[in-house]
Amino acid sequence: MTTAATAGRFISFEGIDGAGKSTHIAALADRFRAAGQSVLVTREPGGTPLAEKLRECLLHDAMDPLTEALLMFAARRDHLQQVIEPALLRGDVVLCDRFTDATFAYQGYGRGFDLTVLGTLETWVQSTPNGLRQPDLTLWFDVPPVVAAARLSATRAPDKFEAQPREFFERVAHGYAQRAAASPERFARIAADVDLTAVWNQIEAVCRQRGLLP
Ligand code: TYD
Repeated sequence: MTTAATAGRFISFEGIDGAGKSTHIAALADRFRAAGQSVLVTREPGGTPLAEKLRECLLHDAMDPLTEALLMFAARRDHLQQVIEPALLRGDVVLCDRFTDATFAYQGYGRGFDLTVLGTLETWVQSTPNGLRQPDLTLWFDVPPVVAAARLSATRAPDKFEAQPREFFERVAHGYAQRAAASPERFARIAADVDLTAVWNQIEAVCRQRGLLP
């Protein structure tokens, strides 16, 4: 299936917990607004009233991997239909904190859930009348799990995913690397094990190279 084209631009942010996405999502939103663009900042799981309810369950309730994967995609379907597609049609820049690569990395590689089934769900959930919805660009914050774990433990009480052992995050990180290798035209690797300014400089450079920022 071909990738759906729209007036807007869809950018997702990915990486293991503690990779440091949040500060940069806000900064990039400001940068696009300063360049005269309408920006929508959103997140997964979440982004609509229904998907935010599902987020609460997903982040705090125990469930089997199939239930977890189905709820992730149910939340995503609602988010796409209610929020992301309308924003892209309006011509907005959509900045989304995680998208389907997270499901492959966490539920697939992390939990060991069947990648082929995830691929089928991806096609069902992200189909639009114009083709398959995928981000135009995925900024992958790549950081060694040991560094990410140290950052997280310094900040807050862990949720269900953040409380997973180091080996889980090693598998998730490997999953992101596999997804990036499979779609090199969509992914940009950001070396996130450096200071804030150095991370930001990489993000700005990628957005310029791709013609997203002047
Ligand atoms: P995250 O986006 O990092 O939010 P916060 O910074 O507020 O904790 O947390 C969402 C969690 O959900 C994260 O641990 C990854 C997990 N997740 C999945 O397991 N699968 C998915 O498909 C998505 C979108 C997230």
